[in-house]
Amino acid sequence: MSNSGETELIHMFKGIPFTTRSSPELLKSLDAFVAREDDILLVSYPKSGTHWLAGVITKLYNTQVTLTSPIEFGDISKLEELNNVSSKRIIPTHLDYNMLPPNFKNKKCKMIYISRNPKDTAVSMYHYYRDNPNLPTIDTWTAFFDLFLKGNVVCGSWFDHFLSWEEHEDDKNILFLFYEDMKKDLPKVVKKISLFLSLNVSEKDIQDICKKSSFSEMKNDTEKENSDPSHTVCALTSNRKLIFRKGAVGDWKNHFTPKQNRRFEEIFNEKMKLSKM
Ligand code: A3P
Repeated sequence: MSNSGETELIHMFKGIPFTTRSSPELLKSLDAFVAREDDILLVSYPKSGTHWLAGVITKLYNTQVTLTSPIEFGDISKLEELNNVSSKRIIPTHLDYNMLPPNFKNKKCKMIYISRNPKDTAVSMYHYYRDNPNLPTIDTWTAFFDLFLKGNVVCGSWFDHFLSWEEHEDDKNILFLFYEDMKKDLPKVVKKISLFLSLNVSEKDIQDICKKSSFSEMKNDTEKENSDPSHTVCALTSNRKLIFRKGAVGDWKNHFTPKQNRRFEEIFNEKMKLSKM
């Protein structure tokens, strides 16, 4: 991360970089967080399609649900704020599995992990960093590429994050999804989510949800909203244009040089050698 004057934007907690919007007191207190059996966790490494998934899930319910801001975002008052939510809670998080409040695991809460090609994730995160004053300044794509590979970006290493969750891929309460599958066949993924959440959703409703969850619809919707960032999935910006940027698969090809691609592949193959991916 570049300018030393911006170091106050980031702090380290258990070896992982967090923005100062996640207070150390809150992070420390997460171990004692009291989960509810019907909480749903929406888990991702940043820029993997979290808003998209949240948009789909909230539309699947015809009862009242509350989409909160990420559990790790805010100060110590966050615990009380979440405690005061009376309806079913859909809670996003970018925490890796080891940092997740243990009560979610003990109560076997349903968790949906969304992953995305890390090359596209890196590119998406680069643009997000560049245009977001709440994150350290990034001078060039080359500089960001190095930081990403070293895990020296918010939420740490993509590889560590993914691997920590992949280890639990077979847990019955965890559903693994891929951004690319949502792009390829959204109705199929929406059906999968509704089955996992034991929701009875008609074919017509699925078509309707998919239509309303298209990139252009979601981008237009949020442009109309005046959202408070502390109550949204993103929580680091109120500029919705930063979140709905391009929504494409393969944008990495417009950024990676052949040399960067080779380096990425080498590191990917090394780090992911025990992964099923
Ligand atoms: P790009 O920057 O590549 O466009 P997150 O929600 O985890 O922050 O991820 C943001 C990424 O998901 C952005 O990627 C954004 O454009 C993409 N995205 C958001 N909504 C989408 C949708 N409805 N369809 C496809 N991509 C979407």
